[in-house]
Amino acid sequence: MTKPFRIAVFASGSGSNFQAIADAVNAGRLAGDSVTSSSMQPRLDVRIELLVCDRPKAQVVERARQLGVPAFVFRPKDYADREAYEKEILERLQALEIDLVVMAGYMRLITNVLVEPLYGRLINIHPSLLPSFPGLDAIKQAMDYGVKTTGVTVHYVDGGMDTGPIIAQRSVEITPQDTEESLAARIHEIEHVLLPQVIERIARGQVQLQGNITITS
Ligand code: GRF
Repeated sequence: MTKPFRIAVFASGSGSNFQAIADAVNAGRLAGDSVTSSSMQPRLDVRIELLVCDRPKAQVVERARQLGVPAFVFRPKDYADREAYEKEILERLQALEIDLVVMAGYMRLITNVLVEPLYGRLINIHPSLLPSFPGLDAIKQAMDYGVKTTGVTVHYVDGGMDTGPIIAQRSVEITPQDTEESLAARIHEIEHVLLPQVIERIARGQVQLQGNITITS
């Protein structure tokens, strides 16, 4: 029997990355018999156990409903402070024995309530080649700066603003014809491939964290 690898996804908006992970699971790219790139590879059984969302009206909540993924949807203003709702999130993650938390468009900085117990099991996807253009509007920041290449980064979360050890990056060229929308579309396409790939690598135990450096085998 393959041991399930349980993930939770944190998202605040459209949730296209959440969808991409769910599609990869449902298409057998992260779970099931077909996830054996060689006969030496054990089968994978990745399960999305929980969506965490801080915006009740976000499209990702509807996606979770349609996919049958349980969701913890909360309004930050219903809590005394950030630590209070993060404690509740942590309890839910622990109760579900979550192996990996994937932040995919979760628009809040998180505190040590989550970072400390989850360090090394908490990743984020960001639409630039970090350490360039951290923070909000990374795609616009890259265009406004005039760089010719930007991209996508998946990294471990350490509590800073898009800091933390980098796991994987892909570059995307910016052409003179690009608008923010056209560039965003290409970046999202790459994200939807890269994020499930990184989750697969982590689930297979192929990503090692050594200080601030990751080594992928
Ligand atoms: C993505 O571009 C991701 O890199 C960033 O937020 C966006 C989320 O998009 N952190 P979606 O909600 O997954 O469509």
